[in-house]
Amino acid sequence: MGLLDHHKKIETHATLLLVLSFLVVTIGGIVQIVPLFYLDNTIEKVEGMRPYAPLEIAGREIYLREGCYTCHSQMIRPMRDEVERYGHYSLAAESMYDHPFQWGSKRTGPDLARLGGRYSDDWHVQHMINPRDVVPESIMPSYAYMLNRTLDRSDAEHVRDIMAVYRTLGHPYTEEMLDNAVGDFFAQADDFGDPGVVDRYPGAQQRNFDGQNQVTEMDAIIAYMQMLGTLVDFDTFVPVANR
Ligand code: HEC
Repeated sequence: MGLLDHHKKIETHATLLLVLSFLVVTIGGIVQIVPLFYLDNTIEKVEGMRPYAPLEIAGREIYLREGCYTCHSQMIRPMRDEVERYGHYSLAAESMYDHPFQWGSKRTGPDLARLGGRYSDDWHVQHMINPRDVVPESIMPSYAYMLNRTLDRSDAEHVRDIMAVYRTLGHPYTEEMLDNAVGDFFAQADDFGDPGVVDRYPGAQQRNFDGQNQVTEMDAIIAYMQMLGTLVDFDTFVPVANR
């Protein structure tokens, strides 16, 4: 009896096929999954990563609320066309303080993982008011109303509550950060604000992002956009495998 005849026996016998398929899938699953249990960590530590500053959290919450992730990814894959267009491929550690992560699954617009510093604040304000003003062929919606939505103390307190929740998830917010959260929230959007916010959140950019007197949603979303992908210094970064 040839090999094919043996196989015919399996293919024409439903129970035998089921049992053998189950066996094969089980072995395959074990081979793939078990080694993961023996890794200490799937995220390599990198220098520069820190949890979000309060105003950046507010911007991130707006990003989630508006569903920006339905059109934008935040995940640069290690392929040449992506790296040449967007910059260094994304590291796992760069999403370690994102709950939920914002990798996205669709790019109607470009990837935003390394958006920080690519454009000026003024460009962002114009683009958010009316994307067609700066990119004529754009199909992105307008978010002009963010300029008029003032953020007040209760918004800052809400962010402090979010930070407290993040802490239960392991984000390294200190007592000092929580105590100063409300102050830091407003200080980051102020050209002359308390510089303590930059001490607490190294690399935080501190300025009046939208150019208006009040702190608005526009300040928050631009503070968030301007920090995306800027924390890790890729001039000095060496992957673990090359160390
Ligand atoms: C309906 C899809 C859609 C949604 C929703 C959307 N965008 Fe966009 N976005 C685009 C498209 C298309 C472009 C490319 C054209 C342009 O620059 O306007 C773009 C471009 C951008 C750019 C310029 C990126 C670059 O590298 O040139 C930024 C920044 C941006 N979007 C931010 C946002 C933010 C923040 C939100 C949520 C408040 C958002 N987008 C929501 C479609 C969208």
